[in-house]
Amino acid sequence: MEQFTAENGTVVEVFPCHLTVKDILQRKTNVTSSKDDREDPFYIVDLGKLVHLYKHWYDLLPSVKPFYAVKCNDDLMILQTLAVMGTGFDCASKSEIRAVLKLGVDPSRIIYANPCKQASHIKFAASSGVHLMTFDNEDELYKTKSYDPSAKMVLRILADDPMAICNLGVKFGAEVEAAPRLLSVAKRIGMDVVGVSFHVGSGAQSASAYANALASAKEVFLVAEQLGYTLKLLDIGGGFPGSLHSDALFQEVTSTINSSLASLFSQYKDLKIIGEPGRYFACSTHVLAVNITSKRCKVDNYEKHFMYYINDGIYGSFNCIFYDHTIPTPQVLKGSSDVVSDSSIWGPTCDGLDKINDSCLLPELNIGDWLYYEDMGAYTISAHSAFNGFSKPVVCYYCTDREYVELESLLVGTQPKEPLSCQLMNNQFDSTSVAQEIDCC
Ligand SMILES: Cc1ncc(COP(=O)(O)O)c(C=O)c1O
Repeated sequence: MEQFTAENGTVVEVFPCHLTVKDILQRKTNVTSSKDDREDPFYIVDLGKLVHLYKHWYDLLPSVKPFYAVKCNDDLMILQTLAVMGTGFDCASKSEIRAVLKLGVDPSRIIYANPCKQASHIKFAASSGVHLMTFDNEDELYKTKSYDPSAKMVLRILADDPMAICNLGVKFGAEVEAAPRLLSVAKRIGMDVVGVSFHVGSGAQSASAYANALASAKEVFLVAEQLGYTLKLLDIGGGFPGSLHSDALFQEVTSTINSSLASLFSQYKDLKIIGEPGRYFACSTHVLAVNITSKRCKVDNYEKHFMYYINDGIYGSFNCIFYDHTIPTPQVLKGSSDVVSDSSIWGPTCDGLDKINDSCLLPELNIGDWLYYEDMGAYTISAHSAFNGFSKPVVCYYCTDREYVELESLLVGTQPKEPLSCQLMNNQFDSTSVAQEIDCC
């Protein structure tokens, strides 16, 4: 087995590209170890997929620079890989900003995209050189003026996809009708508003939500012009699908966005357009392997029902069942059987709520067997708690021999590197950051 060591000391294994996820997991679980931790849950993370997703983004959305939403999964190798490829970052707090800056990312590649911020976090952002930030209300303008009078403010407007998995409009986003007032207040107190942002909701299901949001954003651009502003930034937020089988929706969404951008914003020649994808990048990169630690069999009306207890649960990675409305699908690592029984899968804590799968058909499994769950990278490990003393799964990184050379050249060697974006799409962003360009305008 080949491997290489990234600049930060992390080992990345390299597998032949013909191997499936199941093959890779089988190899990893077959490694004999005398240590107790050989039954611990673990993630395998495909960094090569991240390279593919990055290129695919620019193939389909060539005019939109991704600013990865760190909250979705703040894994350092995910952040590092995206950083060296050239994305920007959407941070929600002081510690996210700090984590991204620690990677050597220029502060101008960060948008502080939390419309309601703690004062001390604004101070930290300003002192670190992060000035691009969102707001959606008057009080945030006054507060920001106190702590970062030179902030470049981005007005977040309300734009909801009612079908989105997670609705964000209940909490954030100014009504378009409030824009004239907010922009006037900003003008009066001398705060610089540089753009408009929206988020249609995480896990958006309808392309038309983006078309509606872009139409609203255009209305705000026109209002801003009347008030003497020249807006330079359009931030189309997140919401993009990221699961293994969601490319058709991504294609539909991106094609709608491209048409709306062409019809509504083509006259703004110097406009910088960014997005804040989280799920799109993180979701499919992670596969979680869990071990069956206990088993019970109940017989009801001569029917057997198996209860399997695994070592990660809803207080850990599977918090996504509650917070992200995920329905995880268990897959069996070893063996197959035509004989299946009704089964349920439970997490390791003492809480009866800690159930991962209610009723699923599985071959009979034994203590020590492995199950795995795909699409586990978004809003999972980032909200893992230590409830009942269970810690986060170990994370193992890999790529296939197809992306090995490209990835190794990005992750090993002297920093800083030429962002991949420059090599990929020289018609788009150059290495000058959005914020710097905004400053220069
Ligand atoms: C401001 C903001 N930007 C981006 C994201 C990422 O969204 P998604 O993972 O749906 O792309 C979120 C998610 O909550 C968010 O709140």
